[in-house]
Amino acid sequence: MGPVYSGGMKGIVLAGGSGTRLYPMTRAANKQLLPVYNKPMVYYPLTTMMLAGCRDILLVVNPQDLETYRRLFGDGAQWGLNISYATQPKPGGIAEVFLIGREFVGTSRVGLILGDNLFYGDSLPTVAERGATGSGAFVYAYWVSDPQAYGVVEFDAAGQPASIVEKPKNPRSNWAVTGLYFYDADVCDVATQIPRSARGELEISDINAHYLKAGRLTVEKLGRGYAWLDTGTPSSLLKAAQFVETVEDRQGLQIGSPEEVAWRMGYIDDGAFERLIEPIRGSEYGKYLQRLLAMR
Ligand code: G1P
Repeated sequence: MGPVYSGGMKGIVLAGGSGTRLYPMTRAANKQLLPVYNKPMVYYPLTTMMLAGCRDILLVVNPQDLETYRRLFGDGAQWGLNISYATQPKPGGIAEVFLIGREFVGTSRVGLILGDNLFYGDSLPTVAERGATGSGAFVYAYWVSDPQAYGVVEFDAAGQPASIVEKPKNPRSNWAVTGLYFYDADVCDVATQIPRSARGELEISDINAHYLKAGRLTVEKLGRGYAWLDTGTPSSLLKAAQFVETVEDRQGLQIGSPEEVAWRMGYIDDGAFERLIEPIRGSEYGKYLQRLLAMR
């Protein structure tokens, strides 16, 4: 058992699924372990959770990938986190994590991020923190060209959410609901109340629609100055990698580095940061982290 960061937010990172659209890349490897340019895909959403101020993290993975994820993250203490693991035996839908993670959530507010969601934008930590410290359900909407591939939220004339529909054939807006969600602890009860969809899954959009009906849903729009990237197809995966490469190369600063985020958030001190760098100092990544220390 790692330390318990009492009073803090809980965070769930969902890295399950079969990744069928990325076959054969996902034949043996779990989708969220595939590289997005220079890091495993799951590093990006994990660091988003960390930037939201979340240090108690439950990773939900497929049973066959459990050992691999343990090798990647351990108990999280190296990054000042407390990472625990649970498995989702069959694809039962995103909302199933609240049945699986019921004990983990306990009485805390909880964040959920999908392991294939890549967010980028200057004020992201503040934006994510608003969800983390809010009440009820708090989700984010992003304008996309292909809303039918996502949960879609419709706004009324006053800018309030009016409906949420999962993958509608005729979307009522271009506002997709992103894969970053925050809820009060009662989300675990809500998950027991919603019916399974036609494909036998517990849909996250049904959870959000439930909160909407109860007048307990906040939807914050992520403006066009943010990037919310999809990694679900070979082409979108490549584009996400190129995006990361473009920004990192131009700035000489990296996106989605857990070591860097842990250090900048004060989850680890300089000494611990140096100890992380030591065994990897020969790699590009290690050299980057060394430069950060020197620039300070
Ligand atoms: C899931 C959700 C959808 C959401 C999307 C964000 O869809 O069901 O509401 O908009 O994630 O990435 P999936 O990508 O699992 O089909």
